[in-house]
Amino acid sequence: MSQQFASRPLIIAPSILAADFARLGEEIRAVDAAGADWIHLDVMDGHFVPNISYGPDVIKAMRPHTKKIFDAHLMIAPCDPYLEALAKAGCDHITVHAEAGPHLHRSLQAIRALGKKAGVSLNPATPVSAIEYVIDLIDLVLVMSVNPGFGGQAFIKSALGKVSDLRAMTAGRPIDIEVDGGVGPDVAGQLAAAGANALVAGSAVFKGGTVEAYRSNISAIRNAAALARGEMI
Ligand code: DX5
Ligand code: ZN
Repeated sequence: MSQQFASRPLIIAPSILAADFARLGEEIRAVDAAGADWIHLDVMDGHFVPNISYGPDVIKAMRPHTKKIFDAHLMIAPCDPYLEALAKAGCDHITVHAEAGPHLHRSLQAIRALGKKAGVSLNPATPVSAIEYVIDLIDLVLVMSVNPGFGGQAFIKSALGKVSDLRAMTAGRPIDIEVDGGVGPDVAGQLAAAGANALVAGSAVFKGGTVEAYRSNISAIRNAAALARGEMI
């Protein structure tokens, strides 16, 4: 295994945005059984992004259906008023957008004070320098490889260069580099080679609609990334 990847485990995080919302509990149990490492939860407000998804009460209702890590991605502005409710609902990671408000440092301090892992997400147009002065408060960086708001969009290739830059910036620190948007087996290898260790996938995981399909979809993404990391499959 190449040394640069050894410290951060490979993570596949299905995005529940692509699940059947009428059967959320069942869908969560299915991706858990199919090999998901984290469950990625997209919270949208119709203001920061042009779509509305779900909030703390729905997350609380999902929580008993799996023991896996709840990886919340907040696409809301402001985010600070909702952090405590999201922590209480069972989110383990809380990621806020660098563009969502003027006080990113305060939001990250608040997440840490709630005892949760803190993440920063960067829109496609946002430079990596946005995290430079908050890097000591970050457990995770979420690189958007689509403009946030919807599933099923095409992967934006400039995310690859951004991942490499972030890998260099975060070297030696316990920070996960996660990528979200248009991720499937076709780009998983390139992302892993660039230094991403956590891959979010919505439509690429939930296509097929059965636990068997989810297992094969997750394996295809994991195998492509593991190969690029030089790991045994
Ligand atoms: C987009 C969300 C993503 C979305 C990804 O704003 O942050 O998590 O569910 O969906 P796919 O994998 O279909 O691009
Ligand atoms: Zn997301």
